Amino acid sequence: MTTGRSADDVLADLATLRAADPPTHGGRVLSYVYDPGRADLDEVAAQAVRLFLPVNGLDPTTFTSVAALERRLVAFARDVLHGDAGTVGSVTSGGTESCMLAVKSARDLWRAADPGRAHARPTLVLPTTAHPAFHKAAHYLDLDVVPVPVDPATGTPSAADVLAVVDERTALVVVSAPSYPFGAIDPVAEVAAGAAARGVACHVDACVGGWVLPWWGDVDQPWDLAVPGVTSISADLHKFGYAPKGASVVLYRARERHHAQYFATTAWPGYPVVNPTMLGSRGAGSMAAAWAVLQVLGTDGLAELVGATRQATDRLIEAAGAVRGLRVVGTPTGPLVALAADDSLPATEQVDPFLLIDEVRRRGFLLQAQPAMVQPDGSVLPRTAHLTVTAVTHGIVEELVEALVAAADAVRGLPAAVPDASLAGRVLTEGLPDELAGVMATLEALPGEVVHPLLIAVLAAAIDPARE
Ligand SMILES: Cc1ncc(COP(=O)(O)O)c(C=O)c1O
Repeated sequence: MTTGRSADDVLADLATLRAADPPTHGGRVLSYVYDPGRADLDEVAAQAVRLFLPVNGLDPTTFTSVAALERRLVAFARDVLHGDAGTVGSVTSGGTESCMLAVKSARDLWRAADPGRAHARPTLVLPTTAHPAFHKAAHYLDLDVVPVPVDPATGTPSAADVLAVVDERTALVVVSAPSYPFGAIDPVAEVAAGAAARGVACHVDACVGGWVLPWWGDVDQPWDLAVPGVTSISADLHKFGYAPKGASVVLYRARERHHAQYFATTAWPGYPVVNPTMLGSRGAGSMAAAWAVLQVLGTDGLAELVGATRQATDRLIEAAGAVRGLRVVGTPTGPLVALAADDSLPATEQVDPFLLIDEVRRRGFLLQAQPAMVQPDGSVLPRTAHLTVTAVTHGIVEELVEALVAAADAVRGLPAAVPDASLAGRVLTEGLPDELAGVMATLEALPGEVVHPLLIAVLAAAIDPARE
């Protein structure tokens, strides 16, 4: 038994918890959060959430408001992403769910195409830079992933390499616009054309790019539903649509693909179940907020935010590229940038990205560590520091550049962070240290079979009531 508390007291508690988080506004955190720098958008989103808080999106025939909102959001996305009258889709809880549903749809259509495949295990072909949401989809939905190496210099795969592993077992080929690790756009048109010629579906993961590339400017290749052969596309509203977390769109070129995403059953004595997405009951607050934010912005408002994002990204790439010992990986198209050590210089002049991240953190900015990866062909993708640039970065880009320059000066020539076997045990008992370079280097060095259970144990421990 517990005694109820006053709302003020409870809210004060929540505020204390939030105070321990890094700032979600102001551009200090260069991953996870997307800040347009507009308090009016936060406010309209909060009011929209409040209006839709009690609604259950499980049944849009009862709550017709949800169906109307979803139609409007799908129509808005369809226009932005060059769909046509045949383009349909759903609003989901986020990028992972959009990607997983695209895989489910492709798997079910692949199985339905031939009675001999009814229980067979298809493949999912993807560049190594594709988001892990697809590995998760393969894990949940019983597909085998066929990873295709990317060029370590550019971060993109060759279309020929991707198509070389497409065969009759392939349910879906994935390309990204852009991919998260290095911000590169995959060769969408060539891959989609080749997949179509083989009768295979092709998904464009535009979870990041879908709401930013349309206004980026000189994108040198088509990447959306305008490309023949693209059968589905995902675009996250809670990233560059500047909606609160919990909203993404997945679109299909044809209605049968969308229908294959659904689950329906009457095999129980309760209400007939028809679920378009992974969830049963689903909140409509984030959908309402996403729609409200897009309406307040309009495409001209989105274009303006992308303009600021572009300027900040260009400045960052120019400045980071000029820091001795660092290099920008490839030529990013869009707001994602990865910084690696400049290995054309002697080790004494290189800047280790993991050491850089710890130093930049002391100067008030959070970058994200991306460990090195050995690809299936033996080539190595470098360890990097990742930055997601958003509209608000524009106002603080010089401060960020100063932090990068000073941090690089502090660590240039220092031995790169190395694994430390004792760290694993310490992290389990003591939690994560402030300085993460050693932890990331250890993760990088350990094989997946060792590191995956370890990561799970650390994250599960963080929410174990025994810790409260
Ligand atoms: C390219 C790409 N696809 C998919 C996702 C998954 O999105 P979410 O974190 O919303 O599930 C992300 C997330 O960063 C991403 O960058």
